[in-house]
Amino acid sequence: MKEFKGKVAVITGAASGIGRGIAERCVSEGMRVVLADIDDANLAKAESELKALGETVLGVRTDVSKRSDVELLARQTLDAFGQVHLLVNNAGVGAGGSPWEATWNDWEWVIGVNLWGVIHGVKVFTPLMLSQNVECHIVNTASAAGLVVGGSSAPYSVTKHAVVTLSESLYLTLQRRSALVKVSVLCPGLVRTNIANCEDRRPADLKNEAVEISPEMRAGLAAFKKFIEVSMTPSQVADMVFEAIKNEQFYILTHPEWIEVIQMRTDNLLRMEDPRDPALTVMKLIQSAKA
Ligand SMILES: NC(=O)c1ccc[n+]([C@@H]2O[C@H](COP(=O)([O-])OP(=O)(O)OC[C@H]3O[C@@H](n4cnc5c(N)ncnc54)[C@H](O)[C@@H]3O)[C@@H](O)[C@H]2O)c1
Repeated sequence: MKEFKGKVAVITGAASGIGRGIAERCVSEGMRVVLADIDDANLAKAESELKALGETVLGVRTDVSKRSDVELLARQTLDAFGQVHLLVNNAGVGAGGSPWEATWNDWEWVIGVNLWGVIHGVKVFTPLMLSQNVECHIVNTASAAGLVVGGSSAPYSVTKHAVVTLSESLYLTLQRRSALVKVSVLCPGLVRTNIANCEDRRPADLKNEAVEISPEMRAGLAAFKKFIEVSMTPSQVADMVFEAIKNEQFYILTHPEWIEVIQMRTDNLLRMEDPRDPALTVMKLIQSAKA
């Protein structure tokens, strides 16, 4: 897709961070934009701020982990605008530590939002887009964490690897049918967003009982928050996403410093060597990139 003016975009997780950055870019391209998010206050704020820029914007409260919410999102989009051309399955959260210490609630919440959210978007919107028989594009937000050895949050890494695979499968099956629906998978490194505070969005029925956070996890979270504050901005990511849509580019790797770590995993795997921890290499590369 090279022309965007007047076309319709649906973005999940659009009230903050990367989703909001992509929504702003959609508005500046003259698209009509549906913002979907679970955070009522930020959604209303994003809707009114983007409307003030002069384009047609609709906020729809959506919990992407619920199939019925995503079906309703599609219905409301079609009722308002008649069509949809760009879908960005972007809503995401992070929680939990090692595979056995992450709580049942951590696993359920993260898989619900990060993986079921994308499955719901793909299952509901792909047939709609195919039936329109016009150029469309689906962007799924995974992460660089979906391409490297699993990090300290097992639920997060598991879902992001799954989103990469789901996107590859979607790409190939659509390509075999010469469909007009194109696909990209977005795999960012650190981006300056609100993700470190995502606990605020955890639904009441999936809250953890007060759990003791290990000093190791506390230190990891503090370092993560520090790095994120000086990371790439959502609008830089949005620019790369739009370049990829225009060029029909599937993989979107926004952070060159992660390439070495992706390579490290691939080399290890092909040599059947044991996994190496990517965290230290990534931190070193980020620091040297900033120096
Ligand atoms: N920030 C980073 O460094 C980074 C790196 C790689 C990948 N990502 C991915 O980017 C995506 C966007 O995250 P972000 O960094 O912009 O974080 P963010 O917290 O700023 O934005 C995420 C948005 O998703 C919404 N959301 C949470 N649960 C939801 C649900 N059940 N239904 C609908 N919306 C929901 C939140 O309310 C929030 O507005 C996520 O998939 C995340 O995993 C982020």
